Amino acid sequence: MRKIKLDTFPVGGLHGIINVPGDKSISHRALMIGAISEGQTVINHFLWSQDCRSTLNALRQLGVTILENKEQVIVHGEGIGSLKSPEQSLEMGNSGTTTRLLMGLLAGTNFTSSLQGDESLSQRPMKRVADPLSKMGAKIATTKRGTLPAVVTGSKIHGTNIQLQVASAQVKSAVIFAALQADAPMTVTEKLPTRNHTELMLRKFGADITTQSDQKTINIKPVDKLRGQVINVPGDISSAAFFLVAAAIVPNSKVLLKNVSLNPTRTGILRVLEQMGANFRIFYKENKDESYGDIEIRTSSLKSIRIAENDIPALIDELPLVALLAACADGVSEIRGAAELRVKETDRITTVIQELSKLGVLINELPDGMVIHGRKSWKTNTNVLDSHGDHRIGMMMAVAALRTDQELYLNDSGAIAVSYPSFFVDLKSLLNGRS
Ligand code: S3P
Repeated sequence: MRKIKLDTFPVGGLHGIINVPGDKSISHRALMIGAISEGQTVINHFLWSQDCRSTLNALRQLGVTILENKEQVIVHGEGIGSLKSPEQSLEMGNSGTTTRLLMGLLAGTNFTSSLQGDESLSQRPMKRVADPLSKMGAKIATTKRGTLPAVVTGSKIHGTNIQLQVASAQVKSAVIFAALQADAPMTVTEKLPTRNHTELMLRKFGADITTQSDQKTINIKPVDKLRGQVINVPGDISSAAFFLVAAAIVPNSKVLLKNVSLNPTRTGILRVLEQMGANFRIFYKENKDESYGDIEIRTSSLKSIRIAENDIPALIDELPLVALLAACADGVSEIRGAAELRVKETDRITTVIQELSKLGVLINELPDGMVIHGRKSWKTNTNVLDSHGDHRIGMMMAVAALRTDQELYLNDSGAIAVSYPSFFVDLKSLLNGRS
């Protein structure tokens, strides 16, 4: 429950260069896929955050040897079927990605494992993963409410076609992990295309996975063997987004973000910035696996925006920041089709509205989104903001604070370590940078 004082306006703008920490989604997947491959998987620019630590510790509990130094992780995989029965319950911490993806990996083992998480994770829906996996023969017991703690009893997995009810990369990835261990090839069809890191990475490790041209239908063949690889994790665009938005809304800023993931299933925030009239340039770099590059951004005036359901998956984690951009734009903006926000680390429709309202932003709630009235300046009505234990709400409010001239504090700032432990160090370096 660490309460800290936030930097507020007047600041002389943000200036400088940031090497954004490694992508969270890719770091989780590199650990898990490395664990079920044969030989060494070397992960460069791994994200050292609490969430990725949850995955690493759980895999160790499952008998995987993982060596670590400051920026590199080496996984000594022993192949599909090599995971060992854990002695204790697997601790998921705050991490939905760890929980849901692991359920897919554990479904086809020959042992039973139990999974538990922190207070926030224990409120989040797990039936969305348990249901499709059950159709494949998995045995997953959750609480009556469909939440953690859960018990996965390893069983024989059948290749059967699955139609997913929610647009979720975590659920899709769990099904794909189980499908690798199935008795026949199968197809998974998504409601809308979601981030495709699992498919790209598994292909690199030797799996036979094809995505059809609709980007929603994925064919997976069972595998006997995956081979360890070197993974260079690009910077996380979901972390870069805090500085993209900070530079766009704080007058007199110019920031260069280096080596950021530019996978099109993740770059919705760039499309939003473009439509709102932000001033930025992208420098793509040569790559074989995941797209990445540098982004340079400067302050500009912003126009309002309308976000609809189809836009959501590619910017799901950036929606709190879209609300902040909209609060600084000319006119009224709308976010709709985003009911998924209600089942994130917090109900992010409620927490975004509650916290931005404290700064005087006029914002109305919808069942599946919000309506935001843009203003040049706001009238703060309290000086204590709250992360609600949600890393992305904490960081978004630290950026919002830069537009206010009142003394402001942030409660529960420790939550930020879930995805970006060095966030305040990087923010300070940009605030101290020279124009
Ligand atoms: C993630 C998928 C998204 C995202 C989360 C990470 C992943 O969740 O919000 O932060 O790594 O697959 P959903 O699958 O629930 O949309």
